Amino acid sequence: MISEDTFKLIYSSKQPISQSVVWSAPSNIALVKYWGKKPVQLPANASVSFTLSNCKTITELTYSCDKLHDSRFSFDVLVDNVANESFRPKIEAFFEKTLEFLPFLTAGHFTIRTANTFPHSSGIASSASGMAALSLCLMSIEKSCHPTMSEAFFLTKASFLARLGSGSACRSISGPIVAWGNHGAIDHGSDLVGVTLNRPVHDVFSSYQDTILIVEEGQKQVSSTSGHDLMHGHPFAQKRFEQAEQNLTDLLEILANGDLTGFISIVESEALTLHAMMMTSHPSYLLMQPATLSIIQAVWKFRQATGIPICFTLDAGANVHLLYPNYCKKEVLAFILKDLVAYCQNGRYICDEMGAGSKQLNEYKIL
Ligand code: DP6
Repeated sequence: MISEDTFKLIYSSKQPISQSVVWSAPSNIALVKYWGKKPVQLPANASVSFTLSNCKTITELTYSCDKLHDSRFSFDVLVDNVANESFRPKIEAFFEKTLEFLPFLTAGHFTIRTANTFPHSSGIASSASGMAALSLCLMSIEKSCHPTMSEAFFLTKASFLARLGSGSACRSISGPIVAWGNHGAIDHGSDLVGVTLNRPVHDVFSSYQDTILIVEEGQKQVSSTSGHDLMHGHPFAQKRFEQAEQNLTDLLEILANGDLTGFISIVESEALTLHAMMMTSHPSYLLMQPATLSIIQAVWKFRQATGIPICFTLDAGANVHLLYPNYCKKEVLAFILKDLVAYCQNGRYICDEMGAGSKQLNEYKIL
């Protein structure tokens, strides 16, 4: 059983030498949603996600032994090769939370160079892939002082650190299916880290497709962090957490037996319940746009008419993720072009699919 102490034990008084490391970490899309948390950054219910392949963050972390700034944490951030001050508070808060597990954070200077493969304006949250990539870079620096560190420990601690940056980021280290949270049916399931789903998965789910329809570009009006907070004292919170627990139990069975009707029913209900929680919190708010609803209705009509097992899910925004098996890619892309592109802002959509997880790179290059 892992505990927070698991991630302190490895550390000795060794200080890293100056070095640069580069990691790529993917985005993920939750099937059973994390919505509501307990201190500190622990999920109110277990969740499970597909790791994506094309939507990712590439981060280069350069560590030098000499501090450049007088502040407690000495670091600079470049986004798309341009100095960016707006990321500073989030990274500062992340360093503060992870310092007890990475004491070298106050020892030297860090230059963080980062970029996403998807446009910033696309409305796709980059905190999961971003925090995962940064955590992996920090782990590479820690590992340079501890060359015998096992790969399993490296990846588990990266997930642990990423969680402290943004909850869903702990599911962006490995792939193709990752669960996060204590749950009786998940081997080694933990509130502290994401774990790769380690049970048989039906072939129909291999290379499952996710086409992201960009309904609204730009920043959403209410952050996920504020949304999670509104689950405290929410009239339906307890029922929602129980429902997520049951949905996860059922979904694990479905992932094994390939029952796509069952899959669609749970995934769509999870998406709508997530937004129902937002609509029924105090204050209440709405992140779906008219185009979100038009897409949902068009998907239902298309599914009924063709029998093609496509379904939708949503994250905390207006964009729609269309999930479908690889074998119906051609028909679904034709449907998107014919009936859905009109609802996308500037006609934009991103084709993605399940992926294997993060990767260390030799050089900083945005593919
Ligand atoms: C709707 O992980 O972005 O995407 O932990 O406050 O950073 P913080 O929130 P975040 O919440 C993601 C919520 C979600 C559902 C999910 O990914 O499980």
